[in-house]
Amino acid sequence: MTPFTFKALVAEEIKGEFTQSIQTVSSSQLPDHDVLIQVHYSSLNYKDMLSATGQPGITDQYPLTPGIDASGIVFKSSDKRFKEGDKVIVTSYDLGMNTPGGFGNFISVPGDWIVPLPEHLSLRESMMIGTSGLTAAMGVHKILNQGIQPSDGEVVVTGSTGAVGSFAIALLSKLGFKVTAITGKTDESTFLHSIGADKIVSRFDLDLQKARPLLSSKWIAGVDCVGGDLLDYILRQTAHNGMITCCGNVAGDRLNTSIYPFILRGVSLHGIDSGIARMADRLSVWNKLSGEWQFNKEQICKFITLLELPDEIRKMQNAQQIGKVVIQLPVS
Ligand SMILES: NC(=O)c1ccc[n+]([C@@H]2O[C@H](COP(=O)([O-])OP(=O)(O)OC[C@H]3O[C@@H](n4cnc5c(N)ncnc54)[C@H](OP(=O)(O)O)[C@@H]3O)[C@@H](O)[C@H]2O)c1
Repeated sequence: MTPFTFKALVAEEIKGEFTQSIQTVSSSQLPDHDVLIQVHYSSLNYKDMLSATGQPGITDQYPLTPGIDASGIVFKSSDKRFKEGDKVIVTSYDLGMNTPGGFGNFISVPGDWIVPLPEHLSLRESMMIGTSGLTAAMGVHKILNQGIQPSDGEVVVTGSTGAVGSFAIALLSKLGFKVTAITGKTDESTFLHSIGADKIVSRFDLDLQKARPLLSSKWIAGVDCVGGDLLDYILRQTAHNGMITCCGNVAGDRLNTSIYPFILRGVSLHGIDSGIARMADRLSVWNKLSGEWQFNKEQICKFITLLELPDEIRKMQNAQQIGKVVIQLPVS
């Protein structure tokens, strides 16, 4: 195919500083994978911020176009499972890590990374879910598979105003759970109530170092997005046979906790990694999200263009994001 050019956000290191700018790049810079996709929408995830700002352990080589999420239309395919014009979603694997990602108009990926756009979801809505929504939904899926029902008790979400947390609150509330949102931004209480939080607790009011190995039971389940001492705290407050799912590390990558929630209350801690989830599990959660788990996501999403993306990356780096950022790529 004759090379062509398109717009992309490019992260690069210039004189020891990482910068992000919108550049015109060539299709010849894309890897030679089986499926070329014209990206219509992407979304901003925590990992994208880490990659775009050069944090260690994410991207090995710069310049790179980040973006672990993309939805769009197959432009060219040598994989028999996909044909020109198919609507598709790609989330995680190596997209946006060391493979040019969804913050550019075109991506080239192996067919094994692709999920056909589920019926009843638009390309736009699929990126209102994206990796953060899929991760929250995988956590909720585990909790339901444990047999936990809304009548069993209240649930808790940490990192509540973030992309994973806000999606988890809205989904749990839609499923009938009473949700307590633990947040560092109590000034966003109106937002948190509007998406389904029943109670709001400031994480700055919690005595996380309280030494008791078990605290009085408050929740039957939780979706933890932050890790560290806050995860330890909510584990010690979890009721008999409860489950906490964890996916994030913004509050710390160590978990120093007590054995008692596990051996005296039968509490489970379940890790979520949406990046390497099996395709069968991804499809099953995407199908739920396009069917019985549909809810109005407009209030947790903000839509931006590529030009606005560097500012939004900075906001995420400073823990100032509220909800989910969806990027609309220019499509000619
Ligand atoms: N395992 C996976 O598959 C997977 C997938 C997606 C994301 N993640 C991880 O999940 C985490 C959240 O991602 P996200 O997209 O929701 O990020 P985000 O939009 O930036 O939200 C993170 C939220 O965490 C809270 N927070 C920030 N600093 C904190 C601190 N020091 N202590 C406690 N809470 C703090 C803030 O919410 P409040 O102000 O409301 O407290 C912030 O909005 C990240 O660690 C990300 O890497 C993992």
